[in-house]
Amino acid sequence: MVKLTINGKEVQVPKDTTVLVAARSAGITIPTLCYHPRLKPNGGCRLCVVEVKNIPRLVSSCTTPVSEGMEVQTETARLKEVRATIMKLLLSDHPVECINCRATDDCALHELTMFLEVHENEFTGERRKYDTRDGNPFIERNMEKCILCGRCVSVCEEVQGVGAIDFAYRGFKSKVCPPFEKDLDCEFCGQCVQVCPTGALLGKMWDRGLRLGQEKKAVDTVCTYCGTGCNITLNVQGQNITKVTASERHWNEGWLCVKGRFGYSFVTSPERLTEPLIRKGKELVEVSWEEALDYTAERLKATKEKHGEDTIAGLASARCTNEENYLFQKFMRGAVGTNNVDHCARL
Ligand code: SF4
Ligand code: SF4
Ligand code: SF4
Ligand code: FES
Repeated sequence: MVKLTINGKEVQVPKDTTVLVAARSAGITIPTLCYHPRLKPNGGCRLCVVEVKNIPRLVSSCTTPVSEGMEVQTETARLKEVRATIMKLLLSDHPVECINCRATDDCALHELTMFLEVHENEFTGERRKYDTRDGNPFIERNMEKCILCGRCVSVCEEVQGVGAIDFAYRGFKSKVCPPFEKDLDCEFCGQCVQVCPTGALLGKMWDRGLRLGQEKKAVDTVCTYCGTGCNITLNVQGQNITKVTASERHWNEGWLCVKGRFGYSFVTSPERLTEPLIRKGKELVEVSWEEALDYTAERLKATKEKHGEDTIAGLASARCTNEENYLFQKFMRGAVGTNNVDHCARL
């Protein structure tokens, strides 16, 4: 363990902890933008700078390891001024159109601008202008709002193992994009959208949720697509799902696949089956559950009597619960009398 003081308070943390993590463990807030607890720190935004006794320059707390006897200050007037200047420089090349931005209620840049009390900006000048069109079906990429924090690049490489995007060009022209600036063509897991601290990356299907007077709710549930059972959060307004997010506090740590994150429009599809259907002639006809179950039982019984139980097979689904799949195989083995049981999880 290493002992240090932060704002005069004694803190003890394991060796190799960063100053940022040590401060947070002591309940001390240091603003961050590029840091993400599940990604390697890259020290890109400099918002987390702190003062360390006997080091003349400011150091980024997210990349600096603690050392024995270190004396750290996180809230001096100098730091406040430097952080406000960093924020102003970021905003000087950002279209500050928060009132029209779809990320406005979930934007760390916006939140920190308020936290750092940056109300005016003396820095003006040229701004990056990019075409926001990207023909991919899932992710809207507005690189004028990108602050080059690098979180999306890191998550795609470190968590997803895909490496579909990276920094291109240098200096003012630096940009995060797919190879040769083509349309994004990847797994569309949306981890990059999840970690983006601005409105640069959004789900194309997200609902703007502009319904006056309808309550907004966040409903934790489980993705129904496969047996992995990721936890998801439905962001709901009235009867509409506005977007799906995932919380870091659940076992899947906020990560999802394309289906769980973006494939939710089926919930309100008018084509969803609500009653059993039986084919009568060429037509599929709605029937009651009693009729459908009697029909199925009769057909299974007749087939078994005429051709034997091993001419029957049962296909279940990885989308069912363990309990449902257990009951299904029990039914096939116990009632029908066959071991021909399989399921559809061929991802
Ligand atoms: S959607 Fe997933 S695979 Fe595609 S760029 Fe984002 S993180 Fe990478
Ligand atoms: S797109 Fe978002 S996550 Fe990626 S570098 Fe830009 S601001 Fe950061
Ligand atoms: S479909 Fe994707 S998000 Fe849903 S449970 Fe399976 S892996 Fe998780
Ligand atoms: S949060 Fe430490 S440099 Fe960005």
